Amino acid sequence: MQTTLHTKLHVAIIMDGNGRWAEERGLPRPDGHQVGADAVRAIVRAAVEHRVSALSLYAFSSYNWQRPPAEVAGLMGLLRHFLLVEVPWLRDFGVRITVLGRRDRLPIGLAKAIGHAEASTRDGRRLHLRIAIDYSARDAILAAAADHLTADELSGRLDTEDVDLMIRTGGDQRLSDFLLWESAYAEFYFTRVKWPDFGPDDFAAALADYHRRTRSFGGVVEAGAAAAPH
Ligand code: FPP
Repeated sequence: MQTTLHTKLHVAIIMDGNGRWAEERGLPRPDGHQVGADAVRAIVRAAVEHRVSALSLYAFSSYNWQRPPAEVAGLMGLLRHFLLVEVPWLRDFGVRITVLGRRDRLPIGLAKAIGHAEASTRDGRRLHLRIAIDYSARDAILAAAADHLTADELSGRLDTEDVDLMIRTGGDQRLSDFLLWESAYAEFYFTRVKWPDFGPDDFAAALADYHRRTRSFGGVVEAGAAAAPH
């Protein structure tokens, strides 16, 4: 099912539920993250097929450092592996990868893999895949808001365009410090499906739901009129 008729669409996803997915199966939590990485592959492909222009994935929040060291190490290794192994096909697919968040606390191997992935995919024009690692929206806003800025200038400094559709898997209904500024007029889609089970059909259902909505951006939408922010 292909639902996309627009030219620009920024979808952000809070990929929640990996740990519970594993625990339900009597598996260690890192196994949930491992299967979650497979889901990432499938959803990136689906995003390209649906002609989504930008996909932002919340992979590791700045609060996730509080998790057990073995789980943190497993996630860092998984992210490094993903960036090293998946880059060739992502580049061939026309995907540009950039990473949001702090780099100074990441293992050196992951920081290098990020630099390599960003450099080798920088010409990608079909989909801008952003992966948020050691990311906190509040920190990003604080860092960008050092001077007297207009809202547009601050948006520019955050390196991320406004979110159109924010998806959260795993049943919870909160933003968890992800893209706070950019989600000012985002549409929200919450699903109980846990991230490792979230597949292309679920993604298509979320997009279809989004396209049924009317976005007024605080104004009034007249019949046949398309509202735009600002
Ligand atoms: C939240 O689930 C998920 C994470 C903290 C990690 C997300 C990482 C991946 C999906 C894998 C790799 C990502 C990429 C981009 C290759 P949770 O552990 O908080 O689940 P729970 O709420 O059930 O405990």
